[in-house]
Amino acid sequence: MDLKGIKLTWLGHATFRIQTPAGKIVLLEAWVMNNPMCPEKEKKLDKVDVLLCTHGHHDHIEDAVEIIKKHDPQVVGIIELCAWLEKKGAKKLLPMNKGGTQTVGDLKITMVNAVHSGGIHDGKEIVYGGNPCGFVIEFSNGVKIYHAGDTSVFGDMEIIREIYAPDIVMLPVGDHFTMGPAEAAYAIKLLKPKSVIPMHYATFPVLTGTPADLRKLVSGVEIVEMQPGQTLS
Ligand code: NI
Ligand code: MN
Repeated sequence: MDLKGIKLTWLGHATFRIQTPAGKIVLLEAWVMNNPMCPEKEKKLDKVDVLLCTHGHHDHIEDAVEIIKKHDPQVVGIIELCAWLEKKGAKKLLPMNKGGTQTVGDLKITMVNAVHSGGIHDGKEIVYGGNPCGFVIEFSNGVKIYHAGDTSVFGDMEIIREIYAPDIVMLPVGDHFTMGPAEAAYAIKLLKPKSVIPMHYATFPVLTGTPADLRKLVSGVEIVEMQPGQTLS
């Protein structure tokens, strides 16, 4: 995988920290301190410039309020999720919706579909958090990464390939709450990326799909099985 100066760290589950060519720190998903897969030494984030949130489930935004209070990042998410975060004290919001692209520093961020649900557990209530989404991020060095969020496979992944042609895709493989290895293999057929980083597996006992299962089902694509805390550069 050629990241051309990007540093990409998996913090476990669906959370990634990416250092851009300009040195900005992007956090994909706000589940760090309470993420049981995140190594202790990675839980103390030094800085976060941009926070991207795919949807309101706890394993994606449980630590959002704390991270926003501490680091005051620009926050990208769907309108309703941003409105909820604003009520919780977020200031630098960059709400958007599916099909749209916005430039944030040296990134071009496109919000794409995800087939999932998106309620936010707020105390004892579940409040509407807008639709769940995925993101295609284009870096200034030309590298394009697609983080699928939580999703099943869907035919319009073909549109994502045709319009954005992501080089690297982060796909859930754990099954139960998202697609499992069989669906992820089909997603790879639609997306035709150079490299795949499996995510959203092993965190809970019901997430039984593994990168090894996926590897048995595909050929001609690099499956990069990362360890939590590992950095690719
Ligand atoms: Ni979810
Ligand atoms: Mn999830």
